[in-house]
Amino acid sequence: MSDLKERDKKYLWHPLTQHKLHPDTIAISKAKGALLYDDQGKAYIDGIASWYTCMYGHCNPYIIDKVHTQMQKLDQVVFSGFTHEPAVRLSEALIEILPDNQEKLFFSDNGSTSTEVGIKMALQYHFNQGKKKNLIVAFEEGFHGDTFGAMSASGLSVYNGPFEDFFITVARIPVPTGENNEEVLIALKKLIATENVAGFIFEPLVQGAAAMKIHDAQGLDRLLALCKENDVVTIADEVMTGFGKTGKNFASDHLHNKPDIICMSKALTAGLVPMAITSCSQKIYNAFYSDDITKGFFHGHTYSANPLACTAALAGIELLQSEEIQSNIQRIVSAHKAFGEKIEQHSKVKSIRQLGVIFALDLNIKMERYGNLRDQLFDFFMDRGVFLRPLGNTIYILAPFVISKEELDKVYNVITEVLETV
Ligand SMILES: Cc1ncc(COP(=O)(O)O)c(C=O)c1O
Repeated sequence: MSDLKERDKKYLWHPLTQHKLHPDTIAISKAKGALLYDDQGKAYIDGIASWYTCMYGHCNPYIIDKVHTQMQKLDQVVFSGFTHEPAVRLSEALIEILPDNQEKLFFSDNGSTSTEVGIKMALQYHFNQGKKKNLIVAFEEGFHGDTFGAMSASGLSVYNGPFEDFFITVARIPVPTGENNEEVLIALKKLIATENVAGFIFEPLVQGAAAMKIHDAQGLDRLLALCKENDVVTIADEVMTGFGKTGKNFASDHLHNKPDIICMSKALTAGLVPMAITSCSQKIYNAFYSDDITKGFFHGHTYSANPLACTAALAGIELLQSEEIQSNIQRIVSAHKAFGEKIEQHSKVKSIRQLGVIFALDLNIKMERYGNLRDQLFDFFMDRGVFLRPLGNTIYILAPFVISKEELDKVYNVITEVLETV
């Protein structure tokens, strides 16, 4: 039988891929902890936790064991009209660690659907009260996913030309940098003055797809306060930032003003199975609670609150709260800081930034987001057994919390090495 890479080419269509330009894939046959292994047995350190999912390590035995037990008891049941223990236990555990104002959880399947749900909740929140507001405010360069509402809100949707005519109405404001806070606040005030703004969706403090751009917490807090004063529904997209990555359970924990809605996915289920949750405050839920059936939220997915996914999420939350993971987070935070200080002055480094275990450096050279030089960097790292996915001239690390000191040092070493070659 021909190898996997060749068989892959026959029927498979990969995400975010122009197959004519990038015909080859890398076949991964197993994973453990922070390591991925290809079909030739070569190991790669997963420097981005497989798109920020498997934060407690690949094939984590604690999570697998819990899911294995659950799958022999209840695999799947319709979540409309039924409930089950994994969902209820997960709700209790998640509400415990979410910001205090979050009271209700709505399930879906992935990051895009979690933000889609958040946007729909914001629009219907007003509609149910007899107000037809149709404008969503979002940050420039934000990314919220690839379904229509999420795409519309994403300032980074550079390849979305064919769909733009069908987007929902979105107005964009710059991210607050500290220096421009007043300006951004005025821009939002102007939009709110139209009385047409239903909601404000944002990635709190770190814009992942924009290459881990970090913005000013105080500036964001002021925007949230303004929204609150004007009954604009605030939607924090914590799909990337959630579950310990910023050094706190949620990026929203760094803020004084809490969002009305929080979107979660990725690390929610620790990389084992897909699932998403959109949580909201009692105020939002109350706008849907009615004798009138049409005021309900008629959105649903077949696998909503799948018991296996709920079990994985519950096990993930238990691990997140463990002393071991919390001390790992502190270890990585300190290691990143020391690495940053070491390379900050390098002539090829334009700037560095860090929040929690998220670390990014911009190279002092101009590069296309998915251009040739970026591909060369990717290959350089992979040749040396490290999986990093540079975005344009930004190299970032968001490794599993369980990455060992030696593995993390290797990641730093290949980055230091690449600085001598670019
Ligand atoms: C902040 C944010 N929101 C939404 C999404 C979309 O998630 P998914 O790819 O699971 O649809 C992503 C994916 O990277 C993300 O980073």
